Amino acid sequence: MITISDLHLTKSERPIFQGLHLRCKAGEKVALMGASGSGKSTLLRAICGFERLDHGTITLEGRCATHDNQILIPPHDRNLSMIFQDLALWDHMSVGENITFVLKMRHTPPSQIKDAVEAILDRVDLAGYSPRRIESLSGGEKQRVALARSLVTHPKILLMDEPLSSLDEARKTKLITLINDLHQEHRFTLLYVTHSHAEAETIADRVLLLKEGKISES
Ligand SMILES: Nc1ncnc2c1ncn2[C@@H]1O[C@H](COP(=O)(O)OP(=O)(O)O)[C@@H](O)[C@H]1O
Ligand SMILES: [Mg+2]
Repeated sequence: MITISDLHLTKSERPIFQGLHLRCKAGEKVALMGASGSGKSTLLRAICGFERLDHGTITLEGRCATHDNQILIPPHDRNLSMIFQDLALWDHMSVGENITFVLKMRHTPPSQIKDAVEAILDRVDLAGYSPRRIESLSGGEKQRVALARSLVTHPKILLMDEPLSSLDEARKTKLITLINDLHQEHRFTLLYVTHSHAEAETIADRVLLLKEGKISES
């Protein structure tokens, strides 16, 4: 569950958010659209806890996470995952190490790590990929690793920033099916930024538009 009230944020004297409100129910899938530069990525970063606000409150799962310029819950304690537009996989690590790293950060007992990594890789159709280098993977495979790394910690909230924009239509369709299937299993709240109306309609229960620092139903 995400609740954002009366968000105001200015960067380099340019107002980005001007009284923005947003409410995503637990388990809901919401798509966010908006012109380039309208603030979509900044909004996701704010939900992660990477942005201080001029004014406003971000509440996650009923806990006040950011209030005005105070980060009350640090990013790693927000029980959420974000998939960035460029995926931000760690290229110098193997697939398995990428996933192991986030489990260690969450203090997963070492005895459970190997099984957890294998199970999530299996779930995204990458069984046996654990030793592979990130740079040896195709675009679609990298997307699957990013999904696996995000979901292995069972986050309540998944934020995705135009994650499929680099893929061709066939791969995009397969990944959308995978995202929808994973949502059925994990029931995270999904906030999905996209430029594509078709993608938004296929993934989301509700499509929102960010314009002039505010959000409206599109
Ligand atoms: N660190 C920053 N300093 C100044 N301006 C920034 C910074 N980050 C983003 N912006 C500006 O904020 C606006 C929103 O950016 P962004 O959230 O990346 O938009 P979108 O993801 O919708 O394309 C843009 O005008 C961008 O130039
Ligand atoms: Mg962006």
